[in-house]
Amino acid sequence: MAASVVTEKDLAYQQCIVPSCGATYDVGEVRTSCDACGALLDVVYQWDALPVPKSLSDFETKWSRRNEPLCRSGVWRFHELLPFAPPEKVVTVGEGQTPLSPSDGVADYVGMSRGQLFLQYEGMNPSGSFKDNGMTAAFTHAHTIGAKRAACASTGNTSASLALYCCVSKLMQAVIFIGSGKISYGKLSQALDYGALTIQIAGDFDDAMQRVREVSSRLGIYLVNSVNPFRLEGQKTIMFRVLESLGWEVPDWIVVPGGNLGNSSSFAKAFHELKALGLIDRVPRLAVINAKGADTLYELYESRGLRWRGGMPNIEVLDNYYAELDSAHVRADTIASAIEINRPVNLFKCLRGLECMDGVVREVTDQEILDAKAQVGASGFGCEPASAASVAGARMLRSEGVINPNERVVCILTGHQLKDPTATVAYHTSDQKEFDRVLGSRGVSRAAFANRAVQVDNDLDAIVRAIQLNS
Ligand code: F0G
Repeated sequence: MAASVVTEKDLAYQQCIVPSCGATYDVGEVRTSCDACGALLDVVYQWDALPVPKSLSDFETKWSRRNEPLCRSGVWRFHELLPFAPPEKVVTVGEGQTPLSPSDGVADYVGMSRGQLFLQYEGMNPSGSFKDNGMTAAFTHAHTIGAKRAACASTGNTSASLALYCCVSKLMQAVIFIGSGKISYGKLSQALDYGALTIQIAGDFDDAMQRVREVSSRLGIYLVNSVNPFRLEGQKTIMFRVLESLGWEVPDWIVVPGGNLGNSSSFAKAFHELKALGLIDRVPRLAVINAKGADTLYELYESRGLRWRGGMPNIEVLDNYYAELDSAHVRADTIASAIEINRPVNLFKCLRGLECMDGVVREVTDQEILDAKAQVGASGFGCEPASAASVAGARMLRSEGVINPNERVVCILTGHQLKDPTATVAYHTSDQKEFDRVLGSRGVSRAAFANRAVQVDNDLDAIVRAIQLNS
C-alpha cells in the first residue's frame, strides 16, 4: 500500500471567525470573507499533525543557518508557526530583520522605570514598514495559487510593500489604490519607483478600500489588504521576534497604533496560538492607540461598550455609529496619515483580540503624536507620525495609572522616519507659515521638542558665532 502524503492542504484551512458559523474553506481558496455569514476568516492549523517545536528556544538553531533565505527572514524562520505554504513556494525579500531595543529616553518621557520600555523598530524592514511581515505571507499565498496581479488600497505603506515584492520577484503586477492628497511623498515615491500601476482616486482611504474590493472581485485580482487572512499570519511574527529578543519572556504590555487593525488582530492570534500550544504560559495585555481624528475603535470600544462577546457583538452599535458618521459627513483626519481610517476592516478580529489580551483602547491628539515622535527621534529611533501614537498612548496609560512604571512595555514603531519627512520638518521648522500650513489646521499649536535649524549668512565669522552661541 502506498504511504499517504500529508500536504499543506490537509494541515491548514480557512475558517469563519464567528464560532456559531465556523464555516471552513480550503487553504487554496482566495477569499476575504465567509460565504455563509460575511464575517472575516482565520487561517487555522491542524497543530496535532504538524512538527511544532517543543520550546520557542528551538527556533534559535536557525540563527546559525542565516545564509539560507528562510532562516534569514524574520518571518519565515518561524515557518512552523505559520505553515500554510510549502517552503519552496515562499517569496522573501529578507523581511523581518528588525530589532527590539530598550530606550531610556522614551522611558523617561512615558514615565516608566528605566530599562522597562522597549521599541520594536519595524521601520527597518526592506520597504520601511511592518507591512513586509504580512506582505511576504500574502504574496506567498498569491504565488501558490498562481496569481498574476495583486492589488491593495493603501495609505502608503501597504502599497510600497506590495510594489516591492512585485518588482523584486517579477511574479506579479502591483495595482495600488490611493486616496488623492492623502499619501506622504516618501510612500508615493516608493510605489512609483517600484513600478506599480498606481490608481489615485478622488476620495480617502475608506473610499479606496471599498473600490479595490469591488475591482479585485470584478477583475479577479488577488487582494493583499489585511482582510486577507494570510497577511495576518506574517504579522504574527512581529510578536515572535519580540519574545525572541526578550529571551522568550512575555512582556506585560504590547502597545500598537490602530488603523485598519490588522496588527492588533494578528498579535492576539499569535499569543493565543502560542498559549494553546503550551509555548508560553500567559499573554501580555494589549493597548491599541487611535489618532483622535480617526477613532472608530476608541469610540466603539471605550465609549459605546462594543465587545466581541465570544463572537456575538452588538452589530447595531456599529451600524448606528457608521450611520452617524455618514449623516454628519465625518471623514477621518489626522496628521498620522497612515492610520487616517474610519472604517477599519479588521474591527471584529480586533475586538476578539482585545478580549483575548484584556485590552484597552486610547485616542491621542496630533499634538501628542508629534511630541512623542520628536522624543522617539531624539532617542535615536526615528519613526513616522502614526508609529508614535504607540508611545503617546503608552504615556497616557502610564499617567492614568493603567500601566505600572515597573511593568515591561513594548511599543511598536510601525514605520520609518523617512516615510513622512514633511510632518517632521514642519514640526521642527522656525517658519511659522510652514508650521501652520502643514500642522496648524490640525490643532497642533506648539512644538515642545522642536530642534530649529539656525539661519545664518554665508559668512565664516557669522557661522562660527552661530555655532558658539548654540553649543
Ligand atoms: N502604522 C503604519 C506606519 C501604517 O502604515 C499603518 C497602516 C498602521 C500603523 C496601522 O496598522 O492597519 O494594522 O492597524 N497602514 C495601512 C496602509 C492602512 O495602507 O499602509 P493596522
